[in-house]
Formats: sequence, structure tokens, C-alpha cells
Amino acid sequence: PRGTHLGPDADLVVDGTGLVGLAARFGTPCHVLSEGHARAAARDFRRALPRAEVLFAGKSAPIRAVYSWMADEGLSLDVCSAGEVEVGRAAGVPGARMVLHGNAKTDDDLKAAVAHGVRRVVVDSASELPALAALCPAGQEVLIRVIPEVDAHTHAAITTGVRGQKFGVPAEDLPAVAAAIARHPNLTLVGLHCHIGSQVTRVAAYETAVRRMVHLLPGPLRDLDLGGGFAAPYHPGEPTFDVQGFATRVQIALQQECAARRLPQPTLLVEPGRSIVANAGITLYRVVSVKPGFAAVDGGMSDNPRPSLYGARYAPRLLGRTTRAHRTPTTVVGRHCESGDIIAENAPLPADLHPGDLLAVPATGAYHTALASNYNMVCRPPVISVHNGHATPRIRRESLSDLMARDLG
Ligand code: LLP
Repeated sequence: PRGTHLGPDADLVVDGTGLVGLAARFGTPCHVLSEGHARAAARDFRRALPRAEVLFAGKSAPIRAVYSWMADEGLSLDVCSAGEVEVGRAAGVPGARMVLHGNAKTDDDLKAAVAHGVRRVVVDSASELPALAALCPAGQEVLIRVIPEVDAHTHAAITTGVRGQKFGVPAEDLPAVAAAIARHPNLTLVGLHCHIGSQVTRVAAYETAVRRMVHLLPGPLRDLDLGGGFAAPYHPGEPTFDVQGFATRVQIALQQECAARRLPQPTLLVEPGRSIVANAGITLYRVVSVKPGFAAVDGGMSDNPRPSLYGARYAPRLLGRTTRAHRTPTTVVGRHCESGDIIAENAPLPADLHPGDLLAVPATGAYHTALASNYNMVCRPPVISVHNGHATPRIRRESLSDLMARDLG
């Protein structure tokens, strides 16, 4: 995170707070989140796109405190379930500043959104319109999610802008979906939406998307939502996404294409998640056992399934002691009962790692608490936020009684 530096005794100081002390105070595994970093990253988007509406992609970190920091920084909220609406409601985000997504919105999702007055719903297929129209109030604003046919060149599991994946309607079906919306008197079409994928590094992919989307506008519409997907660095030396370059190129493309079609420029919406919170997070583990080439920690795929799902790569480091031992490729594995339970493969770590050592894994602020499971009946770790030297528990560690409470015998 920004504002991170190395303190004495190989302590890492994040947002004014030493991680070695945090591990002692809150135990491991433990997710640490820098409020200062997350807020600064949110401000980067607001500064780069002052006329756009920036929505925080709530799925990336469904944590009440995070949603309220984002609202405080002037961001709206993108939600995709009754659960995320509930976190947003609890964080004090008004429905007027929420957009509901989903390719299979259940009645419960829609009812929660309607009860909270969620202003916009993104329609993913014509088949959801009857349910939507039956539950939504008069004047419900909707956008249509379109497949822009832009390949974002990211992992297949998080590629969403091409044909053959489950989201959105193909361009040729757009007129029919718009006509179907027009037949429902309580639904008003206000815009189009697309989302080309996640961990997207190329600004050019968004520029192509914006040009296609303007081309597809059925007429003057208020909103053009480009989704999220902006990449975050996971390893030292990887570039951060050029938010300002993105803003400049996308706004020029929007202006040119709208001028060419003689259409008024819609308001741009963007939905960053990962790029705001990934690098605000760092996860602490204790080494439990070692073997030549391996260090096993007290967490694993239950708190970070991303290596097994997307081949994600992390860069763990030793904290809490200095050592002159040479660095040797060490695969950091978890405690779960399968061999794919890997946090980092062949990470250069000191050869004298031993049980009790503290490891920090940076870039874990996005899609970690969100994707966590209880595999092997393991309790999920807490989330502790840090800011200017203060640590605040935001999600408490799960207990065995939390787990057993759902087992009715
Ligand atoms: N908008 C929509 C409609 C989305 O589906 C997503 C992410 C976003 C915005 C935010 O994308 P971001 O800026 O965070 O990349 N679990 C995967 C990521 C899945 C992303 C799903 N949709 C991972 O851990 O990499």
C-alpha cells in the first residue's frame, strides 16, 4: 500500500501501523487493509474523471467500512446481490447511488434493491424483464448490458466482453431488448453497460469498447457505463493501471464518436473494484511447518483461492526478523487437503524459514474476503483496517460456534 515502509526489526509499517504488532494483537491469518490507500485510489479515479460517475465494485471487498470510505470519497456503489445491497444499506449508501447488476437476479435480490430504492438496474437479458417489471416501482431506471466484442486479453475466467461467455446481450439483440423494455410502462431505459473483463492492463481495450458502445447507442441516452476491470499490480515492478491515460483516451474517443453520430455525450460511468482495494490489502500468515522447498502456513485456499482459480501470483515476504540466509525458491502452501492449495509458487524466501515465522502477502485487498470459504471447516480470518497508526477490526475472526450454528444436526 501507499505509505508503506520498512521499520526496525524487519517490520513493515502500513498506514502508520507495524504489521508485526498487528499479527501479535489479532492473530493470523489476518487481512490488513489500509484505509489511506483505498481512499487515495478512489480519489485518483475521481480526479481523473471529474464529470463521470465512479462506482465502487462492491463485490471486490464487501465490507461495510470499505463501502462507507468509498461513499465518503464521492463514489457510488455497484452491487450484485441482496447481500451487497444490505452491506451498502448498513454502510449508509443511499439507493440513489447504487446500480444493481447480475445475470441471474433472484426475486430476493430485486426485492432488496427495490426496498432500498436502488436507482438503476442493469438488464442482462430480456428474460428477466417480466420479473423486474413486476417488482420494480414506476420510473425504474434500467441499462442494458451489451457484449461489446472486445477481447481484454486477461484470464478466461474473468473475460466478459466476448461472445460465448454468459454476460450481456449480443449487439444484434439490443433493439429487441430495448423494445421489450419500452413495452413495460414502469421501466425507463437510461443507458448501456459493458464490462470487458478484470485485471485488464491495456487502456486501448477500453478505447475500443467506448467506440463500439457509442456505435450501438439506439439514440440519445443519459448513461454509458464502461464497467470496471482496471488491473492492479501483484508483484513489485508490475505497472499500476494508468487511470489518467484511460480517462483521457476514453473521453476523447467518446467525444469523437458522439460527434460523428451527432449524439449528445452520455455521462460516463466506471466501476473499479480491484484497482482501488487490491493494493490496500496485505495478508499475514504464520509458518506452521517447513519441508525442503515448501513452507506451509496457517491459511491457504480458503482465504485466497485466486492462485488455484486464476493462476494468480503473489510475492510473500518474511517479516519480524532479519536473516543472512540465502534466498531459495520456496513454494508457500496452505493448510488445506489438496495439493493445489498454493499461495505462491517458488517465491524467493530465506532458506532458514521455520515454524512461527511471519509471512506477509501483499496485494490481497480485492476478491479475498469476497471469495473466502470454510473449506475443511476452517474459520475465516478477520479484516483489520489501519489508518494513520490506528488499527480497527472491521470483520471479526470467525469462530467454530459461527460455523456450527448453521449445522442443525
Ligand atoms: N463491474 C462489473 C459488472 C463486474 O462484473 C466487475 C467484476 C467489476 C465491475 C469490477 O471489476 P474490477 O475492477 O474489480 O476488476 N474474482 C475475480 C474477479 C472477478 C471480477 C468480477 N466482476 C478475481 O479474483 O480476480
